Order: sequence, then C-alpha cells, then structure tokens
Amino acid sequence: MDKLVVEGGGRLEGEVAVAGSKNAVLPVLAAALLTRERLRVANAPDLVDVSSMVGVLRDLGCEAGRGGDGVLEVEAPDQPSQRTDWKLVARMRASFCVLGPLVARTGRAEVSLPGGCALGGFRPIDIHRKGLEALGADVRIEGGYVIAEAPPGGLRGTEMYLGTAFGSSVTGTANVMMAATLAQGRTVIQGASCEPEVVDLGHCLVAMGARIGGLGSPRVEIEGVDELGGADWTVIPDRIEAGTYVIAGAMTGGRVRVEGCRPDHLTTVLERLREARIPHEVGADWIETQAWEPRAAGERPGATDITTHPFPGFPTDLQAQWMALMTMAEGRSIITERVYPERFMHMAELARLGADVRREGALALVCGTPRLSGAHVTASDLRASAALVLAGLVAEGETHIHRVYHIDRGYERIEERLRSLGATIRRERDE
Ligand code: EPZ
Repeated sequence: MDKLVVEGGGRLEGEVAVAGSKNAVLPVLAAALLTRERLRVANAPDLVDVSSMVGVLRDLGCEAGRGGDGVLEVEAPDQPSQRTDWKLVARMRASFCVLGPLVARTGRAEVSLPGGCALGGFRPIDIHRKGLEALGADVRIEGGYVIAEAPPGGLRGTEMYLGTAFGSSVTGTANVMMAATLAQGRTVIQGASCEPEVVDLGHCLVAMGARIGGLGSPRVEIEGVDELGGADWTVIPDRIEAGTYVIAGAMTGGRVRVEGCRPDHLTTVLERLREARIPHEVGADWIETQAWEPRAAGERPGATDITTHPFPGFPTDLQAQWMALMTMAEGRSIITERVYPERFMHMAELARLGADVRREGALALVCGTPRLSGAHVTASDLRASAALVLAGLVAEGETHIHRVYHIDRGYERIEERLRSLGATIRRERDE
C-alpha cells in the first residue's frame, strides 16, 4: 500500500492536460457487450478503474485491451458469459454497468451487487432494478448477485420514471438506456440523468446504430433496434479531474492552465469560483487560474456556499475539493450535500490539518483559516483523497496521505502531474 507525502507552501504554476473522463469511459466500455463487432475507444484514461472494467469484460469472454495507438478496443464474443465474478465487480461499482447490456444482448445476466466508494452510506440499485423490470425483465437478488432475465420475446420498450429521492441516477440511466437500445419498441425514460458522461454514452450508442433522442434532458427516448454495430469513439475530457486541478491552482495562488477540458461541463463550478473572487480566465477548451498572494490580507478567497445537485448543478464529485478550498477562505461557508448526504468523511481528515469544519446533518459549516498545518491523514474515497492532496499543497510542513490507492482509481499519475506544476510531492511505500 502506498502513501503520498506533500510538502505544502509552494505555488503551482504551469499547464496540465486533462485526461478522458473516467465516468464516461466506464459505461462506454460496457456498451461493447451490446454488439459482436469491435468498439474502439480513444482518450480512455490510464486508471485503475479502467483496468478493472477491462478485467470484467475479459472475464465475460471479450477481447479487450489497449492497442499500440493507445486506443482501447473491446470485442464481445457471439455468446458472452452471463455471470460476472464477484471479486472483480466488488472492486468497482461501475462494473454494475454490464447488467443492462448483458441482459439485453443475451437474455440473462448475473452481476454481483456492486462495491466501490462507500461515500459514507448505502448505495442502492433499486432504480437499475426498476428500469429493467419496466422493460419486462425478471430481476431478483440471490447470493449477493443481481439476476436479471429477459422475457421469452426479449425486452420490450415502455415509459418509466427513473428519478431517485436524490435526483437522477447516472449509472441507473446508463444501464437502462443501454438495455433499451435492443428492446422492442419505444422506451421513454423520464427523470433521466443529464450528466455529460451519460450524454457521451448516448452519443456513442448512436454511433453504434442506436436510435436515441433527448440526451442531456430529463426525458430520453430510445427506439429499439435489432442489433448494434461497432464504432470508433473518443470519450469526453474528465470534468472532475479538470475541476480538481483548477481548485489546486486557486488554492495555491498560482497560474495553472487546465487544457483540453470542457468549460461548459463546469459552468456552476466556474460561477462559484467567480463568487469566491478567484481570479481566472476561461477559453474554448481551457481554464486558467491567475496568480494571487495567498498570504496577503484580504486576498484570500471569499467564503462561498455550495449545494450539490445532479448536472448542471454543482457536482458532488467536486464537493470535497471545494471544501478544501473553503478551509482557507475568508469567512464562513455552508456546504450542502444533496446527492450523497453522508459524503463528508473527508471532514475529520481536513480537521486534522487544522481546518475549522463542523457537520450539521446534510450541511457542513466551514470557517476559513489563514493557515493549515501538515499531518498524517487517511483517504476514504476517491474524491476525498483529492481534497486531502489539495489541502496538503497549502498546509505548512509535510502531509502524509495514507491509503492512496483510492486516488489512483480516478486520477492519472496525480503526483507526476502536480510535480510538473511545481508541487513537492512524492509517493512512498506505506509501512
Ligand atoms: C455516478 O455514481 C458516479 N460514478 C459517481 O462518481 C458520482 O458521484 C455519482 O454518479 C453522482 O454524480 C460513475 O459514474 C462510475 P447515482 P452512481 O446512481 O451512478 C441514489 C466518482 O468519484 N440512488 O447517480 O452510482 C444514490 O444513493 C464517483 O467518480 C438510488 O437511490 O450514482 C445517490 O444518492 C463516486 N437508487 C443518488 O441516487 C439507485 O438505484 C445518485 O446516485 C441508484 C442511485
């Protein structure tokens, strides 16, 4: 097991190119199960989660791997296996995205109940089940596996509502949309996720021959087709990685240019940056933070409240990183988590760095302080790990971040990229 050691105090300066989106590429790879032709995916990030998904697809009988040109290629067999291995799926929740394609393509799927980030609470799959049952599948849970079986004539399109108590479901929409592409007739999904990653998946499915309308809106329509073909697809840039590096530049007061991103996927985050008086500029495919003096009085970011919501709201996957920024802001901010109300496990670790944070139910109260001090902290999930790295960049002295395998799931070689921006950060074996 590794840890990251960060020496705080320096400014980040320079350019960083954003990798492909983890949360777009994972369901796109699962979509390869819908066809026996080859799906070629460019801009697929080099992440542990992507390797995990490749492992799951191979376990199902697919040929899957990265060609010499870096393009990830997946080709499913005529008869993919219908059962995933518990060990592989338990490692990563997104593997659950093979459920919809498998039951649509083969008529049956046995997929282990997902594992992945705890995010401080239970992560149900009732919406996935509701959507597949609406398409006519029989879905039951046996021995820790979800077993879904299509009716004799195959899945049949219908109208359904997939909203949850916390808004839309990203992978719930992905699973059901993929299954509906091969169902007979029309499917209308009300309360569909509008996340850019789901839109990207939908566009990839259309490139494979699916007939889908309304992508990016809460009402998505799918006309079932008999079969899908292969495609060459390039996934969108990772908006969460981009936002993480923008916040890193903002916290250290340096000029950091985040290149190859989609600012239109971060409109709410950019609005909050403006409210927090963080100097920055935005181009067609880049965001650049401008230098400011973190120690000068009156120069610190202004405390700015956020509430997380499904897209286009403030993304829950940047909530922890925003909290890290607010720990050094002028004044008191309120962070409300509407998607995962328990997603505050990073607070205790930020408090170890001297942050003045307090929990009131689904709200976190953050009183900004001019200085944090380095300490040993433990990562709990992917985005909490990133927040601890950001806080370590500004904390005085060394910060040791343990259990850093979480961060490798969603950030390509984060210490190399931060070092290229001037950070003093190293990876060490953790005793
Ligand atoms: C996706 O998870 C992302 N993961 C998460 O990113 C992200 O935090 C989340 O969407 C919300 O944006 C991937 O795309 C691989 P949801 P997902 O279904 O699809 C409730 C990261 O850091 N819900 O949109 O699993 C659920 O409890 C990860 O990259 C139900 O009630 O999330 C939550 O409160 C972490 N029933 C809300 O909906 C269900 O059947 C949103 O969950 C499904 C979800």
